[in-house]
Amino acid sequence: MEDNEDPILEIVTIGDPILNRKADKIRNIDQHVCDLAQRMVKTMHSAPGVGLAAPQVNQSIQLITVDISLGENNTDLIVLANPEILQKEGETVLEEGCLSVPGINEKVTRPYRVVVKGIDLDGKEKIIEAEDLLARIFCHEVDHINGKLFIEHLSHLKKSLIRKKLQKQQNEDIRE
Ligand code: NI
Repeated sequence: MEDNEDPILEIVTIGDPILNRKADKIRNIDQHVCDLAQRMVKTMHSAPGVGLAAPQVNQSIQLITVDISLGENNTDLIVLANPEILQKEGETVLEEGCLSVPGINEKVTRPYRVVVKGIDLDGKEKIIEAEDLLARIFCHEVDHINGKLFIEHLSHLKKSLIRKKLQKQQNEDIRE
């Protein structure tokens, strides 16, 4: 990365087709992947957000960053390539939002507990057990990797109301 390059990446928002596409598997953890991961962490913390997936910064590869502490606690930071949900258990409902769907927060049903598999930046396989909010974040980010936004978990009626709201926001932005 060049010194004069802003590490904060632009976040792609709903309507961009990259958010609906399944991201490519990462074949090896090279310098490009490590640099991108570092910039994604900075972007996630500055947003601020608890999770970010590479397609949200316009890179269609299977890379996610997660930090439930919002940058407060180094040991909470997780970077995973090729994340997969291996097991799901239970159910919990909580209001969710997404940096790529600004201004929309809706209740989403998610598993209470998950087991996630992925590869860390040293190329080592990781198995992570997560509960509650952390489990929710993993499900949300793995959905991004698979080209799915959280609003796709909602009813048709809710989705069409959200589309109208987003359309209205966009029209207002154009007028401004
Ligand atoms: Ni999101």
